[in-house]
Amino acid sequence: MQSNNISNQLDLKAEIQRLKRELNAIILAHYYQESEIQDIADFVGDSLELAKKAKSTSADVIVFAGVHFMAETAKILNPEKLVLLPDLEASCSLAEGCPVNEFKTFRENHPDHIAITYINCSADVKALSDIICTSSSAEKIISQIPLDQPILFSPDRNLGKYLIKKTGRKMLLWDGSCIVHETFSERKIIDLKIKYPEAKLISHPECEEPILMHSDFIGSTSRLLSFIQEDFSTQYIVATETGIIHQMKKAAPQKEYIPAPPEDDSCSCNECPYMRLNTLEKLYLCMKNKYPEISLEEETRKKALLSIERMLAMS
Ligand code: 13P
Ligand code: SF4
Repeated sequence: MQSNNISNQLDLKAEIQRLKRELNAIILAHYYQESEIQDIADFVGDSLELAKKAKSTSADVIVFAGVHFMAETAKILNPEKLVLLPDLEASCSLAEGCPVNEFKTFRENHPDHIAITYINCSADVKALSDIICTSSSAEKIISQIPLDQPILFSPDRNLGKYLIKKTGRKMLLWDGSCIVHETFSERKIIDLKIKYPEAKLISHPECEEPILMHSDFIGSTSRLLSFIQEDFSTQYIVATETGIIHQMKKAAPQKEYIPAPPEDDSCSCNECPYMRLNTLEKLYLCMKNKYPEISLEEETRKKALLSIERMLAMS
């Protein structure tokens, strides 16, 4: 019987550490998790690094502090391990916007195209794809595809448009987007650039084209983090989910990070509502209850594994 009552006397962080030892567990966290979760994790990274870490770990249990498609990827790579996700509702607008039946039709309508699919999708969609990519590996993967081979790129049209420009390849794009990266206001960012003329605008490639056009640097979460450490500027306007700023402040505390503002002042739309469903309490509970866990049909898992392994080999 699972109990979700937590005594307010409980030292949650100490209990999580104790359960980690008891379960021989590893906690993997994405940069968009709240700061306390990032700080208790064994490893914090971008999607590609997290997939690589999930593949190489010797732990028996993987506790995934991220969203569902990330935990699913860990399970695809580790069918024998228990993979826990603090909140099963932690989805992603890109994964939600690419239902498997519609994706299947998309593929069937273009039988001569290879399907390169962004990792932000369900295991079912991965199983129907040829190669998975992440924002940090997409360019390298596309550059290895023969020039006469037509490509379908799904499900992020903004990342897709950016990659078409970067690689010079024509690709047919699925019409999906990230609700967080589409929230940034071009007008307010221009105002910030005027107010802070020394600040560099650094953006995730899931942002819309006008934001990317104004950007001084574009990259995956990990690349944004390394950029601010190598670059000589002291102020940055950060056009991605605000969770990454926690690691930026740790890596270069002397610098200033200004979150890129959403159009709507009254919302926290630059925080991912899916990522933020995970809390320290839910992290503790999922380890205590060994639930919720990720489970997959073996046939889907095996097919999805092929497309993920192609990504790992080509990245
Ligand atoms: P990264 O692979 O850059 O960490 O991106 C993951 C993501 O979901 C961005 O919204
Ligand atoms: Fe998905 Fe966007 Fe959240 Fe990333 S930030 S998990 S792409 S909804």
